Amino acid sequence: MQRILVQFDTDAHPSSFDRVVAVDAGVDHLFSYGGVRTADAVPLVHGAIFTRGPQDLKHTAIFIGGSNVAAGEELLNCVRSAFFGPLRVSVMMDSNGSNTTAAAAVLCARKHLPLAGASALVLGGTGPVGRRVAQLLAAEKAEVCVASRALEKADEVCRAVVEAVPGARLRSLAPKPGAALAEAVAGANLVVAAGAAGVELLPAEMWRACDRLRVAIDLNAVPPAGIGGISATDKAAARDGAVCYGAIGVGGLKMKIHKAALSRLFESNDQVFDTAAIYRIGESLI
Ligand SMILES: NC(=O)c1ccc[n+]([C@@H]2O[C@H](COP(=O)([O-])OP(=O)(O)OC[C@H]3O[C@@H](n4cnc5c(N)ncnc54)[C@H](OP(=O)(O)O)[C@@H]3O)[C@@H](O)[C@H]2O)c1
Repeated sequence: MQRILVQFDTDAHPSSFDRVVAVDAGVDHLFSYGGVRTADAVPLVHGAIFTRGPQDLKHTAIFIGGSNVAAGEELLNCVRSAFFGPLRVSVMMDSNGSNTTAAAAVLCARKHLPLAGASALVLGGTGPVGRRVAQLLAAEKAEVCVASRALEKADEVCRAVVEAVPGARLRSLAPKPGAALAEAVAGANLVVAAGAAGVELLPAEMWRACDRLRVAIDLNAVPPAGIGGISATDKAAARDGAVCYGAIGVGGLKMKIHKAALSRLFESNDQVFDTAAIYRIGESLI
């Protein structure tokens, strides 16, 4: 039976990026819907679950994307609540690439550093990618410092991560550029910069002086780099005593995870690929 991926995108135009990846992951048919709101979810889900018999529903799956990650999460909840009994299909949520990117970043770090007990600093930790990086690092038992320009935003992320990962060791920080930031970086074994595109969060001279820093990962591909001195194409590049990754260096694993997750959606009809599940798929690939 042919594999059908139903793409729900919260943006007006379904993401061409997500569509290309779906084709490359081997789906036979891609049904793309743009501008999908929660009110649209139930009839669209019913169309997907009432057509094929329960034994064949594993050949249909749903992908949720779009630039608004909060809207994607809300849509995922609606989609899940529209399923009942055996009438369900597997679903993956990766709005703005947030889950696959965070999973790839943490798995890159894990190649070079035992994460349990490591001291990790997540710059730009309040965005969709950064908060997932913080969650995954906390689940790996790292001590995570979530940094933001606004302490209350970092506090909110810490609360959400503790809810997702009970017992997580977290602290929030709003370091002013300069001494406070330098102090935070000096205590870190791992820095992940997940700030907005084209914004430098950490100057080169600040991390180069840090003896404890083992791994530095910058997820921003748009110049200037989020971490000065790291190139977007760095992939386990040794620089000033640290192993460095840039956005393109992490991107290869991200793409691999995205395609593998799409392919695994079709293994059964009851899977939900959220942040943690997508990370587990990534783990199986490295
Ligand atoms: N390599 C890949 O495959 C891939 C895939 C997806 C995304 N990305 C990249 O990953 C990064 C994170 O993505 P995202 O969607 O989570 O980012 P985002 O929401 O645009 O920004 C993340 C955080 O950056 C901070 N920020 C925003 N503007 C800033 C400014 N002018 N100065 C300092 N800080 C600022 C904000 O934190 P506060 O307001 O709390 O300070 C914000 O929450 C982006 O650079 C994105 O392009 C890479």
